[in-house]
Amino acid sequence: MPAGNQQLLELELALANIVSNAVKYSSNQPVSMALAATDTRNIIIVKDRGIGIPPEDLPYIFSPFFRASNTERFEGYGIGLPLTNNIIRMHKGEISVSSRMNEGTEIKVVLPSSAREQGRR
Ligand SMILES: Nc1ncnc2c1ncn2[C@@H]1O[C@H](COP(=O)(O)OP(=O)(O)O)[C@@H](O)[C@H]1O
Ligand SMILES: [Mg+2]
Repeated sequence: MPAGNQQLLELELALANIVSNAVKYSSNQPVSMALAATDTRNIIIVKDRGIGIPPEDLPYIFSPFFRASNTERFEGYGIGLPLTNNIIRMHKGEISVSSRMNEGTEIKVVLPSSAREQGRR
């Protein structure tokens, strides 16, 4: 498979995990996305109005098999975000999370544009 296709599939998986969490943990309430591109970066924001993440659990959500204390009613294994985090790191991107209990969660991904990756800038 061409390298570009492989990279696209990885990033698609990374973003699909974020979006499916937003849908799951907001009990199918609307989820919004915002996309922006500059000449050096691509920015993706996924926002939900769901259960939120308890502040004491926030530092651990990228650890394999970790699930926050308020997820009992929801199915899951705690492997989506660790995988997403690894993929984004592999692509030299950054992921950040801000969340409030019972209000919602916002996940922001910043990826370098491929032109910069290839050293053209
Ligand atoms: N949008 C979200 N709203 C609330 N909690 C979230 C959200 N996304 C991730 N989390 C928290 O991060 C944990 C890890 O996410 P993930 O690895 O995808 O596991 P899961 O199998 O639970 O979906 C979840 O168990 C949950 O506690
Ligand atoms: Mg998940």
